[in-house]
Amino acid sequence: MALLLFFAAFLLAAVPPAAGQRKGFLSIDCGLEADSGAYTDIDRGIFYVPDGPYVDAGENHEVAADLKEGHIRPDLTIRSFPSGMRNCYTLPTDAGSKYLVRVVAVYGNYDGKNNSVGLQFNLHIGTNYWDTVQPGRRPVYEALFVAWGSWAPVCLVNTGQGTPFASSVELRPLGSELYPAVMANQSIRLYTRHNLGSTTAHVTRYPNDPFDRYWWHQDTNNPMWENLTTTSINIKLESSFEVPAAILKDAVQVAGNGTILNIKWQDNTGRQFAVFLHFADFQDSQVREFNVYFNSGPPNKYRPHYLAAGFVYTTRWYRAIDGEFNVTLAATAESVLPPMLNAYEIYTLIVHDTPTTFQQDVDAIWAIKVEYGIKKNWMGDPCFPSQFKWDGVECRNTTDNILRVISIDLSNSNLHGVISSNFTLLTALEYLNLSGNQLNGPIPDSLCKLNEGSLVFSYGSNGDVCNKTNLPRSKKRAATLAISIAAPVLVVVSLFITYLIWRAKGRSNSALVTLLVFRYTR
Ligand SMILES: *[C@@H]1O[C@H](CO)[C@@H](O)[C@H](O)[C@H]1NC(C)=O
Ligand SMILES: *[C@@H]1O[C@H](CO)[C@@H](O)[C@H](O)[C@H]1NC(C)=O
Ligand SMILES: *[C@@H]1O[C@H](CO)[C@@H](O)[C@H](O)[C@H]1NC(C)=O
Ligand SMILES: *[C@@H]1O[C@H](CO)[C@@H](O)[C@H](O)[C@H]1NC(C)=O
Ligand SMILES: *[C@@H]1O[C@H](CO)[C@@H](O)[C@H](O)[C@H]1NC(C)=O
Ligand SMILES: *[C@@H]1O[C@H](CO)[C@@H](O)[C@H](O)[C@H]1NC(C)=O
Ligand SMILES: *[C@@H]1O[C@H](CO)[C@@H](O)[C@H](O)[C@H]1NC(C)=O
Ligand SMILES: *[C@@H]1O[C@H](CO)[C@@H](O)[C@H](O)[C@H]1NC(C)=O
Ligand SMILES: *[C@@H]1O[C@H](CO)[C@@H](O)[C@H](O)[C@H]1NC(C)=O
Repeated sequence: MALLLFFAAFLLAAVPPAAGQRKGFLSIDCGLEADSGAYTDIDRGIFYVPDGPYVDAGENHEVAADLKEGHIRPDLTIRSFPSGMRNCYTLPTDAGSKYLVRVVAVYGNYDGKNNSVGLQFNLHIGTNYWDTVQPGRRPVYEALFVAWGSWAPVCLVNTGQGTPFASSVELRPLGSELYPAVMANQSIRLYTRHNLGSTTAHVTRYPNDPFDRYWWHQDTNNPMWENLTTTSINIKLESSFEVPAAILKDAVQVAGNGTILNIKWQDNTGRQFAVFLHFADFQDSQVREFNVYFNSGPPNKYRPHYLAAGFVYTTRWYRAIDGEFNVTLAATAESVLPPMLNAYEIYTLIVHDTPTTFQQDVDAIWAIKVEYGIKKNWMGDPCFPSQFKWDGVECRNTTDNILRVISIDLSNSNLHGVISSNFTLLTALEYLNLSGNQLNGPIPDSLCKLNEGSLVFSYGSNGDVCNKTNLPRSKKRAATLAISIAAPVLVVVSLFITYLIWRAKGRSNSALVTLLVFRYTR
């Protein structure tokens, strides 16, 4: 059943989506009942699927009736996780590909307690801390990462400050050239992303942004800024960020005789920041040139291109001791026009410094989980952090801080079917207990050979079936085969000897021959 659901998930994800949805989008509406079925969000043409196939635990809820208005459909239902310290959505990924993942968590008084004050929980991507969800904040959490395997767990971790929940989980493939700062060893977390000078939507996303990034419209009541806009639809885009024309067509520039455009923020968490600034000028008659400073860093001289996208970004990660961050655009002496800015993004670094389980072990044990439909707490990384380790799984730390699965106890786990050959992919396995299940079929030959035959493998009511004193099935079969071949050969040989004796004795003892032939043919 679970297997079916699992494949159904793939089918759903692969269904040719609503007109125009970009290939590879996976949009999960948390808390949506399976029988409500998938649907297409009319405004954006995004295809949403129920979350059942991606998560093992939790309860479905709806936001309070009086709060439904003003929320988009995916936010109307939520899944909450009252039990378990860590609960994960497991998203299918292509190892090595780059993705944007987004969790939206709109409280909407789903629990009728009308109290989200103080409520918070953590988000992890794989084993790495990503963000802290606080319902008082903007309910949208994004991270950009390179997939390390076929599965990316997005986990909600209970910190003892209320019940974790989610409204939607969305996965968007990014081209490998996008966001050069995103690498296998570092993911980035969105701090904020703004579209400047826009007088229209509160937020611009898909289909205006083909990657469905959220671009929030920044209030430009700032008297130091004035709005610029172009009606030209031919803005040439670039390939490192692919900021769409819908975002670049508006900008702000410094008003009056001002020469400095400043963006400031405060953050005392000690996190490291990166900033990406996006530009396109709407005129080419006058010189517009400025220096960009990140905090007290060195100047980067820049001239925005006429109707062509360009960017300036931090080439290192910034940490400010006092928690004060600023980006300063200061006109150079040569510049006739003041600095301008079309859009910007601020990210923090998600360092990959936690131990993780060896990828081949993760893929193998995940395939086993899927094959048998194992629920338990088998979510997220199998080994780390140790308090969320999978039930029945034991791991060993290697010198590279990579964890290997060394022991699996799946006794009395109501497993059906054959013994999965995926067990043999767990090459560090030393102990495997499958007793007390309804398994049948042969023991994969390679299983007992794991670890040079030192694997302790318990199956059925026998003890260790790999123990040389208890013959494994395959060896028993070999022995039986040997006996059944040997017996007729023996009979033939004795018959031949008897014949020789009979001949030697002068063909007199026919009674003995009759007896032997009788025995042989019986
Ligand atoms: C929920 O709490 C807010 C204040 O936190 C209050 O204004 C509102 O009336 C409450 N709603 C209900 C349905 O109790
Ligand atoms: C990740 O690797 C790159 C080189 O491939 C290196 O420049 C960067 O500092 C590394 N990032 C972290 C967080 O270690
Ligand atoms: C720029 O546009 C915004 C949004 O419409 C508006 O609130 C703001 O007053 C405008 N700024 C100026 C200087 O006109
Ligand atoms: C700009 O500077 C000129 C000359 O320095 C001055 O006359 C004018 O009032 C200034 N404009 C503003 C908006 O400050
Ligand atoms: C920008 O940040 C640097 C370093 O924190 C600080 O020295 C400088 O005064 C700040 N500038 C502005 C305009 O806030
Ligand atoms: C694994 O071992 C390394 C040193 O070899 C150590 O730094 C790290 O903390 C260990 N990790 C765990 C999860 O025990
Ligand atoms: C592992 O399990 C998956 C899913 O059940 C299956 O498709 C795959 O063939 C298995 N691999 C091996 C080596 O048995
Ligand atoms: C396997 O698990 C069963 C049930 O928990 C236990 O009785 C048995 O001793 C285990 N076998 C081995 C070899 O540890
Ligand atoms: C193998 O079986 C023998 C006898 O049944 C037992 O004494 C021994 O401990 C077993 N060895 C292992 C590794 O289980």
